[in-house]
Amino acid sequence: MPTKRKQTQPKAFVQTAQSLMKGLDRWRQVGADEARIVREMTLRNELSGGTPVVRAFEENWRKFTGLKYAITVCNGTASLYSAFFGLKVGPGDEVICPTYTWISTIGPVPLLGARPVFAECVRDGITIDPDDIRRRITKRTKAIVVVHLWGWPCDMDAIMAISRETGIPVVEDCSHAHGALYKGRVVGSIGHVGCWSLQGTKPLSAGEAGIIATNDTEVFDRACLLGQVNRMVGMDLVTNRYQHLQPLGTGMKFRAHPLGVGIASIQHKKLAALNKRRGHFVEQMEAGLADIPCLKPIATAPGSKRGGYYGFPVLYDSAALGGVPREKLIEAINAEGVPASAGFYELLHRLPYFRDGFDLFGNGRGPICRTDSTNFDAPWPGYKDGDFPVTEAMHARLLFLPMLSDPAPKAAARILEAIRRGISMAGK
Ligand SMILES: Cc1ncc(COP(=O)(O)O)c(C=O)c1O
Repeated sequence: MPTKRKQTQPKAFVQTAQSLMKGLDRWRQVGADEARIVREMTLRNELSGGTPVVRAFEENWRKFTGLKYAITVCNGTASLYSAFFGLKVGPGDEVICPTYTWISTIGPVPLLGARPVFAECVRDGITIDPDDIRRRITKRTKAIVVVHLWGWPCDMDAIMAISRETGIPVVEDCSHAHGALYKGRVVGSIGHVGCWSLQGTKPLSAGEAGIIATNDTEVFDRACLLGQVNRMVGMDLVTNRYQHLQPLGTGMKFRAHPLGVGIASIQHKKLAALNKRRGHFVEQMEAGLADIPCLKPIATAPGSKRGGYYGFPVLYDSAALGGVPREKLIEAINAEGVPASAGFYELLHRLPYFRDGFDLFGNGRGPICRTDSTNFDAPWPGYKDGDFPVTEAMHARLLFLPMLSDPAPKAAARILEAIRRGISMAGK
């Protein structure tokens, strides 16, 4: 008799945004309008290419950023890959990047043969420290990538002053900060290239997609050359410099799925209202923290207005709670029904990939390989704990509170009350 095989279900995961506190947050990320556009586009068979909806979204992004060029790609990582390729990052180059970010900010750099050089965050915040950028510049520095982390804009005046002095271009990773402002300008429009993820959990979601925008014709043409099959002069390419390589470009394909862009086009219309609601909620929460000395709001760069609000971190001061460890406080707040956490981004210099290096191209080769110095003066030195004391100290204090997108009346007050109860339990 054949034995019956046990059926195992493959693990599924859905990575779109959900209300973090059902009951207190009435938000649904997608609704009837997103469903309608997907249905209509499907029935029109607008399923591949630079379709009218894709073109309109890119045009709207140009208006939104005030930049000359915008092009959709398949995800935020591809937008960063396109930006670095656009800026001609290659073997022997270095790119300065905050150690506190998601790996995709810098992931494309070693693949292009270049090295990440990590940098500290500002002392009172979470974004990259312009003074530390300055200290880490060498003759090899080809680009600086900054991240408006969790919606907090970086100190762009100081960063752009460095760029002007040195001629080093700046990439802005805006994947957490759709619609955030710095001195009245949308983030992503201040540096040389702006990159946005439109992945499913982002404030402006396509499910999966990304977008890149710039005023730099060469960067734009090279981004098209890299990943935009069938984009040609007169259609997309601005100059004829790479015309002879079209329609296939370099053979990569980073084009976005039009249905995702269709969803994003609806979400774009909702962004200002979403930012307003999230911003109001965060302000209420931060005001309420004034009488909770162990949880401190994070400073924003002067002249900036947060947007996107991809997360809601505050800084825990354990000394103000008699030395209670962060994890114990988080458990106590969770027990009160508020989903708090320490966050899930490990500092990049602590990831085995960068800490120990990796034989990226096999046979002991590649920019972060411990044995290869082909394009550098010495093999990859790696990183160790303690290399970024300011960021490490900040990271150990991070405590994420729930971000509500459409809070019910008095939601902030109820959450603050639950946090106070959690604090009192943890302190016992
Ligand atoms: C800061 C940052 N940059 C880039 C990305 C990459 O975006 P994607 O997942 O769309 O490739 C993410 C994704 O979470 C991110 O958080």
